[in-house]
Amino acid sequence: MTVAAMSAERSEPLVDLDACIRHLDATGQLLRVRSDVDPVHELAGIARHYEGGPKAILFERVRGSDWPVLTGLLWNRALAASVFGIAKEEVPFRIAAAIGPWRADPQSLAPALREHAPANEVVERDVDLGRLPVPVHALLDGGPYLDASVVVVRNPATGAPNTSIHRMMVTGRDRMSFLIDPGRHLGEFVEIAERRGEVLPVTINNGVGLAPWIVSSLPRLGDYKPYVANHLVGRPIDFMRAQTVDVPAYADAQFVIEAEILPGVREPEAPFAEVTGYYGQADRRWVMRVKAITRRARPTFHTVLSGKEVWNAVGFTAEAAIYAALKARIPEVRAVHLPPGGCGFYAAVVQAENTRSGLGPEIIRATFAAFRSLQRVTVVDTDVDLFDAVDVEWATTTRFDPAHDLVVLPDQEGHILNPVVKLNPDGKGGTITKIGIDAMAPHGGGYAFQRVRFADVDVTRHDIRG
Ligand SMILES: Cc1cc2nc3c(=O)[nH]c(=O)nc-3n(C[C@H](O)[C@H](O)[C@H](O)COP(=O)(O)O)c2cc1C
Repeated sequence: MTVAAMSAERSEPLVDLDACIRHLDATGQLLRVRSDVDPVHELAGIARHYEGGPKAILFERVRGSDWPVLTGLLWNRALAASVFGIAKEEVPFRIAAAIGPWRADPQSLAPALREHAPANEVVERDVDLGRLPVPVHALLDGGPYLDASVVVVRNPATGAPNTSIHRMMVTGRDRMSFLIDPGRHLGEFVEIAERRGEVLPVTINNGVGLAPWIVSSLPRLGDYKPYVANHLVGRPIDFMRAQTVDVPAYADAQFVIEAEILPGVREPEAPFAEVTGYYGQADRRWVMRVKAITRRARPTFHTVLSGKEVWNAVGFTAEAAIYAALKARIPEVRAVHLPPGGCGFYAAVVQAENTRSGLGPEIIRATFAAFRSLQRVTVVDTDVDLFDAVDVEWATTTRFDPAHDLVVLPDQEGHILNPVVKLNPDGKGGTITKIGIDAMAPHGGGYAFQRVRFADVDVTRHDIRG
C-alpha cells in the first residue's frame, strides 16, 4: 500500500490515541492495570516490570486523578509497526519516505484550523495541573514530569508552526519548568522573544497520535515540520484554535495545555531520568505559565518510561532522518540503525553496498553530519544484520583494522545530557571525541572476506524427530 493510498480508517490509529488504544486492545497488545496505582514511583515501577515487552500498558485508575495513563507504545519496534500497519524493519523507511514529498513542498497537505474539536470538548480556565495524572517516574526525579507531550510553537520570524518534545516538570498549579537542549528551534524562538521582552506562547499537546508524535522529534527540518506527519498518513492532520494563545493545537489530542514561556525567568528543573540511563542534573531553566487546559471529555494521559521507549522514540526518527540525508548523497546506503546500546541516540550502524574503496570513511563523516548527538558510527556490509549486536561485533572483529579503518574526530560537539561529554565553562554545550569504525570488508577483498553460507533447506520437508 502506498502512503497516499492509506485509507482514513487505516490512518486513524496513527492520528488518534483512542483509536490506537482500540487497535492495541483488539490485537492483544494492551495490558490493563485495573488496580489503583500511585503516580508517584509506583506507576513507573510497574511499567518498568513490563518494559520492552509485547504489550503497551493502560493504567486505568491513577490515584488523585480521574484519567487513565498510557505508556509503552514505543518500547519495541513491533508495537509501533503494528500501529503503522507495516513490518517492523520498515518503520524508519516509512518515516524517511514522508520527508522527501514534504521537502518538495513543506506547506502541502496543510491542515484545517478547527474551532471545535475533540481536544476542546472541555475547557478549563481554572487551571490546576495537579488534576492531571502526571507521574513521578524515577526515584530521584525532581517532581511530576510531562515527557511525551508535543510542544507547538510559532517561528516568531515566519509564523510557521514547529513541534518538538520537551521534558516539563510541574512546579505549581499553573507552572512548569522545562529543558531546551542546545540547537533546538524552541531555544532560538525563546531567544528572539526574550530579546523583545515578550512571552512566547505555546500549546502543549498530550496524547496525540503516533504520527504527529514521532514527527515532532525529527531533528532540525525547518518550518512546517509538523506537516511531515500529514505526508506520513497521506492526509492533513487537523489543528484547532487554542482558547488563550495564538498557536495551533492538535484537534485530536487528549489534553492541550495552553501556556506562555516567561521571558528572562529561570527556576529549578530536574533531576530527571534521562535517555542516557542517568539523571539529568538540576539547574535553573526556562519557565512557562499555564493559561488554560482543554481536553476530551474522557481523556487518557500519555507518558513514556525513560529507557527503551525513549531510545526508540529518538532512534526511529533519527534513523529516518539520517537515512534520508545519506541516501540523497550516497546511493550505496541500504539501512541505518541506532542500537539500544547507544541509547538510540549516540551510536549508529550504517549498512551499505561495498562498491568502491574509501566508501566507509565517506559514510562515517556524512552520518556524523546528519545527526549531531552521534558519538560512534559503524559501517557494515549488506551481509551483516545491523539489528544484531553480535553480528556487528563480528564484522568489527574480522573486517576492522584500527590502523587503517578508524576515523577519529576530536573536539566535536557532544550532547550535554551524556555525562561523558565535557561541558564548556559557560554550560551551554560540550565536547567529545567521536569515532568512526569502518567495518566493511576491503573493497574487492575476495575469497578471504566471503562469509560462510549454508544451503537454505526447508526442514518441514524432512522427517525429523526427537
Ligand atoms: C521522549 C523525548 C523527550 C525529549 N525531551 C527533550 C527535552 O527535554 N529537551 C530538548 O531540547 N529536546 C528533547 N527531545 C528532543 C527534541 O524533541 C527533538 O530533538 C526535536 O526534533 C527538536 O525539534 P527541532 O529540531 O525543531 O528543534 C526529546 C525527544 C523525545 C522523543
